[in-house]
Formats: sequence, structure tokens, C-alpha cells
Amino acid sequence: MAKWYINPHIKKGHIHKELQGHFSEHLGRCIYEGLYVGEESPIPNKKGMRIDVVEALKNIQIPVLRWPGGCFADEYHWKDGIGPKETRKKMINTHWGGGVEDNSFGTHEFMELCEQLGCKTYISGNLGSGTVQEMSEWVEYMTFDGLSPMAALRTENGRKKPWRVDYFGIGNENWGCGGNMTPEYYGNEYRRYQTYVRSYQPDKTIFKIACGANGDDYAWTEGVMKTTYTNAQKQLHGFMDGLSLHYYTVPGTWEHKGSATLFDEKEWYTTLKKTLYMETLIKCHEEIMNQYDTEHKNAIIIDEWGTWYDPEPGTNPGFLYQQNTMRDALVAAINLNIFNKNCNRVRMANIAQVVNVLQAVILTEGKEMVLTPTYHVFDLYKYHQEAELIESHIETKEIGVGEEQVPNLTESVSLGQDGKLHLTLANLSIEETYPIEGLFTDTQILSAEGSILKGNMRDHNTFEEKEKVKLEPFTKIKIVDGQVHFEIPPCSVVHLALGID
Ligand code: AHR
Repeated sequence: MAKWYINPHIKKGHIHKELQGHFSEHLGRCIYEGLYVGEESPIPNKKGMRIDVVEALKNIQIPVLRWPGGCFADEYHWKDGIGPKETRKKMINTHWGGGVEDNSFGTHEFMELCEQLGCKTYISGNLGSGTVQEMSEWVEYMTFDGLSPMAALRTENGRKKPWRVDYFGIGNENWGCGGNMTPEYYGNEYRRYQTYVRSYQPDKTIFKIACGANGDDYAWTEGVMKTTYTNAQKQLHGFMDGLSLHYYTVPGTWEHKGSATLFDEKEWYTTLKKTLYMETLIKCHEEIMNQYDTEHKNAIIIDEWGTWYDPEPGTNPGFLYQQNTMRDALVAAINLNIFNKNCNRVRMANIAQVVNVLQAVILTEGKEMVLTPTYHVFDLYKYHQEAELIESHIETKEIGVGEEQVPNLTESVSLGQDGKLHLTLANLSIEETYPIEGLFTDTQILSAEGSILKGNMRDHNTFEEKEKVKLEPFTKIKIVDGQVHFEIPPCSVVHLALGID
């Protein structure tokens, strides 16, 4: 019996809903087909946005959406995407698969989508190939309310009222596709560009995000932090609110990443072990940031995470389309538990990407839509949004194949705004069921209900079989003397909502 120690009296931090954020890029069939089909499409839409996808994302309470990239962001010139659609520039998306980018989805469409979703906005600005003026004018166009050339242009294009920009990224992966810069060079460019990203709405300060590292590139974090903090007033905190971190779970190598659906038990554990590395990355980057940011004001923003496999056979390799199995569900559960546990520093995380690209929560094919196992994990975890992280620890043992060893269970617990305790637990074993005893310090459990996602490791949903993997009620929970007993089946993710005294 694994003991799960939970002390509801110890609150460890606030879980911002943005930890369950999403990312949308002009890549493959993410924006076009996945989110936006245009008003003339036979696919049911509202102002061009797919109604089925919007409704599904609302169900998981999508808190924030990042756009327009990714690598695309540092090649994106926002003025190409405003004004009458018929006059917008057409171009080839050279970075991603060579499709035609007709710019029919631009700033107005993104803001419309976020309004329909009821989510926050995260814009990635172009530092790699754009000018300071271009970035500055984009912010003015989106947010300035008054007499100015960009506010006038926005009005001319049909929108008088400014929008709200919640988060603004100043460049993306500027160590690579965003300009191949050194950290010192980027740090100085960051300082210059961010100066002109102004918060025009006094009550709506834009949260500025500097480009952070790729995985364990600690030299990048060190170089950027040192440069942004040099000769700067302490209270400006390196001119940033957050520093990003990108980490993808790649089971194999970048050349041979592995199949999304055809994998063996060893690859299962390799994938989960590589995912667990996220915890180390957060801790190590945090340590470096703390050397400069002594007041811990700079958040960690994990604005790209998820699995990255070889593209689905028969699809355009530049479109990064992949299937999504129970393995992805476990990857999502592990990461979301890690983000919860680090909520004092991790302020936002954005899975890559929301529809039809990499670890998508939704796949589409024409008018059809499939919810992936990853989608269902977000559905289970949504109860943690804006909740308080609670002290918890579960007894674990190492399991795996050969050197690919992982703890058998991962968990996190929060006290929700509904006054209930929300527990999420993942069983990483392919074959073993574990009995669990939940022990709550000085607390009696009065009621328990739950949901579970379970299956075999390669199970996934297809357009032919849309509900092979789906949420089911989890009823086998016993309350014994005010404490909780249950069994967690192999390869599963569980959410429990517990009423307390
Ligand atoms: O998500 C796909 C790509 O991965 C993004 O465009 C880029 O930022 C990262 O390398």
C-alpha cells in the first residue's frame, strides 16, 4: 500500500491557470484547418473559427494562447496580416513545409479567437528579422486607446476598441531559428526592443518575456541574465517579468525521434524518464536566475513543451503532425504535476501545440475532430487552475526496463476555489496496479468523487474510433475513518475531488 501524505493545512503557492496554457503557430494545419477555416467554409464556424474546436477548448478552460510562433514569429511581419483579406500578402511558409501563407489569419483574427475562447493573449514578437519600430507599432496597434497612427489604422480596419495583450515574448529561440544569437548579443537586443514594448493601459501592464534556454543550455540563461542585469536599476529586474524555457520530450535523437504509436516498453520508460527531467531543468535554471534576480521576481515561462516524434507516415514532414497515445497522456500528467509543484516560479506553460501539431490536444480531418488522450489529461487537471498548492508526498518505487528507471507514481494536490481538495495521480507502470492510502493531516474526508483515463500504452483515438480512450467515472474510492483508499490501475491518470471537514 503506497502512502500518500497530504497536509491540507500547508499551502505552498498559487497555481496560476496559465500553467495549463497552449501554443498555436502558423505551422502545418494548426491555424488553418485546425482553428480557422474561414467564414465561407462548410465546416461550422463563427467568424471563421471552428465551433467544435473552440467549444472543446472552452471545456478544458484554456487559460492562455500563444501566437504566432515559434520560429514563425521571428519571420512574421504583422502588417501583412491586417486589412482587407483579398489584399493581404501571400507567401510561402518556408520554415514549415512550404505551404501557402495567405495571412488571412492575422492580429484581428487571433484576438477574435481569444475572445471566443475567453482566454488570455500571449503574442510572440519578431526580434530576429523585424525592427524595433515594427514591434513597437504592433503593441501600439493592439493596445493604444487614443489618438495615434496605429490606433487610427486599427479603427480603419474595423476595431475601435483596443485589445488586451497579457503576455508579450520578445523573440523566440533567438539562440537558433530566431537569429542564431549569442546570449550576450540577445541580452542587449532584448534590452533595446523591450524598451518600446509599452504598457499603454495603466491597469493592464504587459508581462514581458525574454527568450530563455533550450533544455539544459545553462550558459544561455547565465549570459542573458548577466547582460540584462548589468548596470540596470535593481527594481527593473533585468527589464523582464519572465524568462522562457523550451523543453521537448524526444524519445530518440533529433535525427530519429521515434514513432508516435509504434514503440516498445523500453521506449515507454525512456520517454517518461526524459519527461521527468523537466524538474531538474526548472531547478537548475532557477538557481542561475537567482544569482541575479535575488528577489525571485522573474518567472519561468515554459512556453514550449511536449512530445516530439517522427511525423506520421504519409504526412508532410514539415507539418509536424503526430498521433497521440496513452504515453502522451502520461507525459502530460507528469509535466503538469511538475508545474504545479513549482508554481512559485513557473508562472505559465504552453503545450506545443494546440491542434494538429506535435503533442496536440485536438486532431482534425476535414469536418471531423478527435480529442487526444492529452486532451483528457487537461480535462482532469483543470480543477487545479487558480487553486492553492497543498503539501503532499507519495511513497514511490523505481520501475522500468534496464537503465530506464522512473518512479512508479507522480502526483500533485491543490485546494480549489470550490473548497475541495483536488488530487491528480499518474501511474507510470505499464502493468502494475497499486493500492493507495491517502493520509490527510488533521482532516477528515467527507466525500470523494473522481475520473480516470486509462488504457494500454499504445491506445489512441482515431477518426474511425474516436473514443477508444476517454474519461470514465472513478468510483472505487473508499473512505475509511475519514481517510481515502483506492487502487490505481496501470497506465492511468486519475483526478479525485474530495470534500473535507
Ligand atoms: O513547436 C515547433 C517549433 O519548435 C517552434 O516553432 C520552435 O520554437 C521550436 O523549435
